[in-house]
Amino acid sequence: MRVLVTGGSGYIGSHAVVALMEAGHQVVVLDNLENSAGTVVSRIERITGQAPDFIEGDLRDADALEKVFANASFDAVMHFAGLKAVGESVSRPLAYYETNVGGTVRLCQAMERAGVRRLIFSSSATVYGDPARVPIDEDAATGGVTNPYGRSKHMVEQILFDLGRADPRWSIGILRYFNPVGAHESALIGESPRGIPNNLVPYIAQVANGEREQLNVFGDDYPTWDGTGVRDYIHVVDLVAGHLRALEFLEAQPGSHVWNLGRGEGYSVLEMVRAFEEASGRPVPYRVTDRRPGDIAECWADPSKAERELGWRAERDLATMMRDTWRWQHNQRIG
Ligand code: NAD
Ligand code: UFG
Repeated sequence: MRVLVTGGSGYIGSHAVVALMEAGHQVVVLDNLENSAGTVVSRIERITGQAPDFIEGDLRDADALEKVFANASFDAVMHFAGLKAVGESVSRPLAYYETNVGGTVRLCQAMERAGVRRLIFSSSATVYGDPARVPIDEDAATGGVTNPYGRSKHMVEQILFDLGRADPRWSIGILRYFNPVGAHESALIGESPRGIPNNLVPYIAQVANGEREQLNVFGDDYPTWDGTGVRDYIHVVDLVAGHLRALEFLEAQPGSHVWNLGRGEGYSVLEMVRAFEEASGRPVPYRVTDRRPGDIAECWADPSKAERELGWRAERDLATMMRDTWRWQHNQRIG
């Protein structure tokens, strides 16, 4: 297939581009490089032996999107582009709604005009809010979200369901990611947060690398086995494999579909610290601080729908996630 990948030079998008190219698909990347580096494309070329077509352009620019679809024909779009920092979304809500919601509407309009109606969308387990129970399946209530980032994901899901209902020619796969971590095993692509990392694993990696003094553990009084927050961490390479399966599924069975992409297993913050220490052979000093506002105690997936319908399950274990994160972190440090 010929696939447009928005946000294809970002963390998850770049791994998806590699997986698509390795599976023989032709890829065009659209990214405005707001949160990624122009060098990612050449790193993808080092992994796959071929560079994807790259267009530097903005999702919010209707004319630019028009041109993208006028210059090439696509069978599908994988839509990763967006803003993703929960804390920043509280202080810059309009930017988050403009890019995540407005940008997605513009993208769908351009797709509609070009007659391209197969879309994979990066959603998030955040749409479940504070879940009534774990593991969380796709029928669990959504919408109890407490920040603009999460609300933007929930809004886009609603928009896409409406679109699918209005016109059955659309095939839409909504993928609810749990906590993506890790990096490609080549250590050529991975997550490069700008400034202080918001997420646990990049922060731990920087502590192990000596770039930060210690980890702040946000609360140890949650009702979990060791009092720290529990999440379902999934290797980014497994995550993107789920996208390829979803794409194949949509080709065979059009319509709107939702799948959780997680491992179905939760780890606490302290378990993550220990696993990273083992993988890196470095200490990860930490101190316990107050809870982070908006955090929930525990969140992990019931991924059985994806397993049943897509024939997909995450294969890489925690040790592999940590090993690959460490190799990427280390490789970045040495250049
Ligand atoms: P990322 O920031 O690394 O990648 C997003 C890419 O989109 C970046 O390369 C950025 O430059 C680009 N971009 C941003 N605004 C754009 C615009 N207006 N036009 C064109 N390109 C633009 O983020 P990621 O971690 O790879 O996340 C990809 C998607 O997955 C996002 O939609 C995110 O919300 C979603 N998601 C991520 C996580 C996570 O923990 N990483 C969890 C759940 C869902
Ligand atoms: N944590 C710390 N210290 C840190 C960072 C995180 O103790 O410095 C803890 C958090 O309190 C939480 C766990 O580590 O218990 C994981 O936190 P992350 O920030 O890595 O992940 P979240 O589950 O809070 O959020 C992530 C993404 C969101 C997404 C959500 C669900 O950041 O965008 O997963 O998919 F919405």
